[in-house]
Amino acid sequence: MDYKKKISELVSIEGFSQSDIFELIALPKDTSLGDYCIPCFKFAKALRKAPVIIAQDLANAVKDKCDFAEVEAVAGYLNFKLDRMQVAKQTLEDIMTQKEKYGSSDLGKDKTICIDFSSVNIAKPFHMGHMLNTSIGSALYKLYKVLGYNVVGINHLGDWGTQFGKLIVAYKMWGDKKDIEERGVRGLLDIYVKFHKEAEEKPELEDEARAWFKKIEDGNKEALDLFYWFKEITMKEVDKIYKRLDVTFDSYNGESFYNDKMQPVLDELKAKGLLVESEGAQVVKFDNDEMPPSLLVRSDGATLYATRDMAAAFYRKNTYDFYKCLYVVAYQQDLHFKQLFKTIEMMGYDWAKDMVHVAHGMVSLEDGSMSTRGGHVVFLEDVLNTTVSKALKVIEEKNPNLENKAEVAEQVGVGAVIFAMLYNSRIKDITFSYDKVLSFEGETGPYIQYTYARCNSLLEKCGDVVGDIDYSGIDNDSAAEVIRTLGKYQDTLIDAANKYEPCLISRYAINLAQEFNKFYFDCNIANAEQPIKNARLLLTKAVKQVIANALKILGMATPNKM
Ligand code: ARG
Repeated sequence: MDYKKKISELVSIEGFSQSDIFELIALPKDTSLGDYCIPCFKFAKALRKAPVIIAQDLANAVKDKCDFAEVEAVAGYLNFKLDRMQVAKQTLEDIMTQKEKYGSSDLGKDKTICIDFSSVNIAKPFHMGHMLNTSIGSALYKLYKVLGYNVVGINHLGDWGTQFGKLIVAYKMWGDKKDIEERGVRGLLDIYVKFHKEAEEKPELEDEARAWFKKIEDGNKEALDLFYWFKEITMKEVDKIYKRLDVTFDSYNGESFYNDKMQPVLDELKAKGLLVESEGAQVVKFDNDEMPPSLLVRSDGATLYATRDMAAAFYRKNTYDFYKCLYVVAYQQDLHFKQLFKTIEMMGYDWAKDMVHVAHGMVSLEDGSMSTRGGHVVFLEDVLNTTVSKALKVIEEKNPNLENKAEVAEQVGVGAVIFAMLYNSRIKDITFSYDKVLSFEGETGPYIQYTYARCNSLLEKCGDVVGDIDYSGIDNDSAAEVIRTLGKYQDTLIDAANKYEPCLISRYAINLAQEFNKFYFDCNIANAEQPIKNARLLLTKAVKQVIANALKILGMATPNKM
């Protein structure tokens, strides 16, 4: 039931449209005052009256014309209280008829959103930093789908650059095909590190590397074969991780894809007088030096990451005609994206405003072992395997007779890491702690999954809802809190989408789980009389459904038993 819509139809104020009023409707901070409110301060000027009077007049005007339980003016606010039982019935009915569709919408109809996320680098480890990026991007991807958008997930692979020349030189010197095939990126990383050590003493290796990279650029067969092989090895590993995380993409067009698409953009920049020469290189300068110039062609003619991103922006606009193009990338690249968007704006394209850098923080491990500088990189695969085996240990202690223990441990372990990535506003840095993320209490993945499993066992134990439903069984404060939260699900999704903040969904899920657990302790379910029990079971079913819907967006599984 759309109460906000109902209210906006009920209240009319000269000079304000129905949708103006809709926008103003808010949720009162103090829930005892009402379920919705309209702050009347905005109307004061137009009506030449004090907000307190306006609220009072409106209350008198609509009071008897509606079926809200109470309409009251308090300190310039017009408050609406719903009939608790009517809301309960309506909300539970909505959830039980819409099921996994509950919360979805057609808000995004005919609109395409491109999301550039994960965007891993070939021949480099898929480390913890990418986990945050991948989880945020994938959650947004699923969220926009639920809201009816056409979504294009793009993995802008880092598959270009001189490092591939270095890898070829290293491979030709020390490479062992079998070892690399077995150990994958770890094998590649070893020879890459070795290259850097050797090159300190033999700088001529760098020249050789440049020459090999040039061969890749020129399409030399031997060079390209190796390049594709490195890529294949990396993608095999990365795909395994994406499968575990339930992450999918619609395009893997990475940096190399744009090799032949940069020149037209550079030509256009030049024609528009935006590309200027500076010490032999070609750069775009910004007004009043608000930012450092953006380097697009080096003095030796080489293009850069930024050049490929310019080409990619045009390619995406032309291919997908996006409504928005999101870049889920760490905040270290703030300047890069500011320059990119500004350059496109300076070229005269108003769609520059539709590109958004969805910036996020960094992840480090509690013991500090994340520092790449110390040469010690933590592979995401190792972190996932560690959490899964720790989860298995806990299950073995707490529920030794559980069937499919390994499967549940995978769901809990991986889910714990995902949830930890998505619990804070994305810009915050995260310190990852195995104990914290795996705790069954507190604001964690296992806690939510456990609540889901609790709903499930309760329903299994009590059987389905049969016969009459006496809603007075959920006419109490703890049930009312749960129902209010259930009813806010779609608003939460929309809010999360508008702010690019999956944490609003994970926080919602925690909140729902906590409220449900309070209800569960406050109200006897199993031994209540059937019609009362039915109302409580229905509530449990609805909570189970909404937790499942929310976790699906976050990318987490919902084991029936834990
Ligand atoms: N591969 C890059 C990195 O790891 C991220 C790419 C982000 N996407 C983009 N279009 N620039 O830093």
